Amino acid sequence: MPQYVLALDQGTTSSRAILFDRQGQVFACAQQEFPQHFPQPGWVEHDALDIWNSQLACARKVMSDSRVPASQIAAIGIANQRETTVVWDRASGEPIAPAIVWQDRRTAGACDRLREAGYARQISRSTGLELDAYFSATKLQWLLENVPGARERALAGELCFGTIDSWLAYQLCGRHVTDVSNASRTMLYNIHTMRWDPFLLDLFGVPESMLPEVVRSSGQVGLAREEWFGRPIPLSGIAGDQQAATFGQACYDKGMVKNTYGTGCFMLMHSGYVPPVSRNRLLATIGWKIDGRTDYMLEGSVFMGGATVQWLRDGLGIIKDSNEVEALATSVPDSGGVMLVPAFVGLGAPHWDPYARGTIVGMTRGTTKAHIARAAIEAIAYQSAELLAAMQKDAACPVMEVRADGGAARNDLLMQFQADLLGVPVVRPAVTETTALGAAYLAGLAEGFWSSREEIQALWRAERRFEPDMPAERRAELRTRWARAVEHAKGWVEH
Ligand code: G3P
Repeated sequence: MPQYVLALDQGTTSSRAILFDRQGQVFACAQQEFPQHFPQPGWVEHDALDIWNSQLACARKVMSDSRVPASQIAAIGIANQRETTVVWDRASGEPIAPAIVWQDRRTAGACDRLREAGYARQISRSTGLELDAYFSATKLQWLLENVPGARERALAGELCFGTIDSWLAYQLCGRHVTDVSNASRTMLYNIHTMRWDPFLLDLFGVPESMLPEVVRSSGQVGLAREEWFGRPIPLSGIAGDQQAATFGQACYDKGMVKNTYGTGCFMLMHSGYVPPVSRNRLLATIGWKIDGRTDYMLEGSVFMGGATVQWLRDGLGIIKDSNEVEALATSVPDSGGVMLVPAFVGLGAPHWDPYARGTIVGMTRGTTKAHIARAAIEAIAYQSAELLAAMQKDAACPVMEVRADGGAARNDLLMQFQADLLGVPVVRPAVTETTALGAAYLAGLAEGFWSSREEIQALWRAERRFEPDMPAERRAELRTRWARAVEHAKGWVEH
């Protein structure tokens, strides 16, 4: 009997493959970074073949390093960076252009024009999304308009569009599919009717023939070709990485919240079985669809989370390794009044300002790199606190705790400051690989490797709970000051 499920966690900066056992524990892991391309200011591209090759290499490596043959793997699950847009040739499988990454801002102007023409409300009503360059629709429109011959080839049925899940599924088992959670991030999918929206396809000039078939998140999609792993393995789970993390955190009941501290920060709240409506500029998004039932989420997305620490390393050069940031930041008692707003690629929820840019305020002659490092850590928490505040306003139910995961969740200073700012406990689970774990659970459920969500819920364990420990007045004062700092960052670049 197979003893493992293989999760493919295809993130923005690296591909990972993780084998999980029946207890939901990591058995083995392989990871590979791949190149990021920034051809113009505000542009971010990936080579879709780099993504596939690195993902395949990791999957093979984790199996060979741990000596787990394909016969021991019950299923494959995919969790992927969302929104990133790939167009490829249906016959050859070759991408026709670089993939446009979710962080890419090149279509901000196109979004402005749509907003001016009065489409924002209708788009948000059908898709649950803010009209923003973050989502796939304007990226796909850009490719169709700017890659020579693309529109004609798309109209002739020669091209496929997909987000990264779709691209990987196509390469793995030759099927052109996407799951509902990824479809809900394209700005082309109606989250009420659960169909590609004909009005939006028309608005963005997207031929329907290039769209993938939308499938449930847990259920067999096909078999990974024998050539990849020596024998076919079922691909049985797909979800966008943030939805997968929510699943891996066992947030199955209304009002449960998780926050992932990855490249960006993504906070999702389970909000029941009908699409929620946000009055505070959060997104309504599909969590997953299992056994005919769809779970919906409210989501707040912050574009720069852990990537702020990478900037301290690569941009500012004040640390050599990301792990050094905690020691540097804790070498001072506080940020000395410095606030860093990491709006390097604009601001996401709840501000949605693509023209905002990074700023540092409050520096004095006494400011040191330690204060800047601390301000960078705190900025991650401030931005997440804005998301929870919006969620608390939108949701009728109280938030009892925030389940944290992602690389930066290992940082105790950040976790404590986060709990202090939120006034709500922050809980770190024993397994912080929750994105991959969620994909594994979705795939394993479909193949009977795990029997139910209840079984999975019972496997979830807290490793550490951070209780709020800051007087309410201090919290209010800091958050007011943060709001002032954000105003300095907004609208910085010319439209
Ligand atoms: O929406 C973008 C998100 O899915 C990217 O996640 O983990 O690659 O930062 P990550």
